[in-house]
Formats: sequence, C-alpha cells, structure tokens
Amino acid sequence: MKTKITELLGIEYPIVQGAMAWIAEHHLAAAVSKAGGLGIIAGGAAPVDVIRQEIRRAREITDKPLGMNIMLLSPNADDLAQLAIDEKIEVLTTGAGNPGKYMENWKQAGIKVMPVVASVALAKRMERAGADAVIAEGMEGGGHIGELTTMALLPQVVDALDIPVIGAGGIADGRGMAAALLMGAEGVQCGTVFLATPECQISEKYKELVLKASDISTVVTGRPSGHPVRALKTPLTRKCLELEKEVTDQSLEEIEAATAGSLRKAVQDGNYEEGTFMSGQIAGMLRELRSCEDVLKSMTADAEALLRAGFARFE
Ligand SMILES: Cc1cc2nc3c(=O)[nH]c(=O)nc-3n(C[C@H](O)[C@H](O)[C@H](O)COP(=O)(O)O)c2cc1C
Repeated sequence: MKTKITELLGIEYPIVQGAMAWIAEHHLAAAVSKAGGLGIIAGGAAPVDVIRQEIRRAREITDKPLGMNIMLLSPNADDLAQLAIDEKIEVLTTGAGNPGKYMENWKQAGIKVMPVVASVALAKRMERAGADAVIAEGMEGGGHIGELTTMALLPQVVDALDIPVIGAGGIADGRGMAAALLMGAEGVQCGTVFLATPECQISEKYKELVLKASDISTVVTGRPSGHPVRALKTPLTRKCLELEKEVTDQSLEEIEAATAGSLRKAVQDGNYEEGTFMSGQIAGMLRELRSCEDVLKSMTADAEALLRAGFARFE
C-alpha cells in the first residue's frame, strides 16, 4: 500500500509501532521494521547508553528504517536528541514538549520528525515548527493520553494541516486502519496490538492480562495531576482512583509513591499487585499472540480489501 507516509519514511506498510517506554526495545522495533512497518525504540527516561545499545542491536537485525521516540520533558532530552543524529536514526517521534529548538539540527541530519499531538492547536504549532508529519493520538490509546477521541481528533487535524497525518489510538485491525485512512490519515500508529506479539519482551503476566481484557478493562488514572494514563484495571489503578476521589497533597504524594516504577514492575516482573499495565481500549479485541509480520500484513490487506469494496454493502 502506497501512501504519503510510506513514501516519506521509505517503508512498505503505513503502520508505525508506537513508542512504549520500557517495552519498545530492539526486539520489537527491529521485528516491525524488518517486516516492513516502522519500528520505534522508546527513549523514555532511559540513560543514553542504554538507548544507543538498543539502536545498535536493532541495526544488527535489520537495515530498514528505524525510529526513536523522545519525551521532550525528560531530563536527558538534549542527549537523546544528539544520539538520534549520531546513530543516524531515520525517524523521530516526539512527545511532551516542543521539539522546535532541535529541529534545524535534525533536519540537517536528514531525520524525519513526527510529533505526537492530541489537539489541533498543537498539531498546527508542530507543522509551523517544521514537522514532516504528525501523529494524531486519541484517548482510546494506551499510556499517556489527551482528552479527544481518535474519531473526533483525526479528521480535524487532517483538515487543519498540509503535512501528512498518522492516526493513533484504538486501531488494531484492518477496519480501524481503513477508517483512519478514510478520515484522511496517511498511516496509522499502533501500540496495544504490538503488546500481543511474541517479539514484545513484556512479562507473561502482562500478555495474559492484555489477551484476557474486554472492551471495558481499561481505566484512566492521573487526571487530577494533569497526566492522565490509560492502563488495565488492576489493584494499583483501583487504589489510585480511590485516592483521586479526594485530592489532597497527601493523596497526591501517596499516588506518586505507589506509581513510581510501576510500569517497570508490570513489564519486567509481571507484578499484578503493584504494576501499571498500560494498554489501550482495543485490547478487548486481541485474543491471541500474532507475529509483528502477521499484524502488519493482515491489517494492511484487510484495510485494502475494505477500501476497495467501498460502499458495495449499501447498494
Ligand atoms: C504500554 C504503552 C506504553 C506507551 N508508552 C509511550 C511512550 O513512552 N511514548 C509515547 O509517545 N507513546 C507511548 N504510548 C502510546 C503509543 O505509542 C501509541 O501511540 C498508542 O498505544 C496508540 O494507541 P493504541 O494503544 O490504541 O494502539 C504507549 C502506549 C502503550 C500501550
């Protein structure tokens, strides 16, 4: 399938594997890139040396285009920004902040820049700052989220910009992909669907919870602190929501203490009691592990078939 995004990024399928802190490391990113999508290594808050090693390991597996994500508010954002240049990363996605001050250097290095946005205003600012594309991410998705749904956000961002738009949030099959393309997206970014792949290096418990999830298995915590996060319902999210009922300095401190390091506890230890198992609402649709290659191929083939069939069902 050829779109402006496959052309821009030099990939076969217009599907980006979204950054996932602690999760999107070289096995996953390389598998997605090798299979013809765009794999992304998540910078998260990891030390630069760790990310450098992840990039190099991914390069040993595939020479196809590889992406990296930088959370611009993280303390080592400057170092990661330079690392992307040094390691000749083809594509950068950015979140939590304004990439403006890095843009010239990245452009000179030939890096394609795609900020993640959750509003039209931010999308426009990113276009003005020189972004090559934006990723419009709805609140159905896993991890840190905004307020708008993909259905409402995506077409409004498409209308407001001249650069290509990638749709994200709640997309895990050909129907979701076809819908995003119909709304004007040139590609999609998925996170949750890649949790249910053998290449994803999360704990068995994490995968089990994702596969067992239903449509209503996720909740959003963190609204009072201004950093909403979507994750599977677990003892920890219940505790957070309870503490959020009455927001005081003490309850916020308790939440902070309970959630510090909790994503790592989910990813590495499979700690059901204390882990944060970030996931999108679409987890309810995932029933079995499938290889990254299978995900990319079937999503694209199904989307293509649906788009070609067009409106025949209404005739
Ligand atoms: C477990 C998990 C962790 C995530 N961590 C990050 C992150 O570190 N940086 C980021 O930009 N997006 C992060 N995201 C968002 C994804 O990159 C992607 O945009 C999102 O998952 C798309 O929605 P979906 O989950 O419905 O597929 C995360 C998502 C999940 C599920």
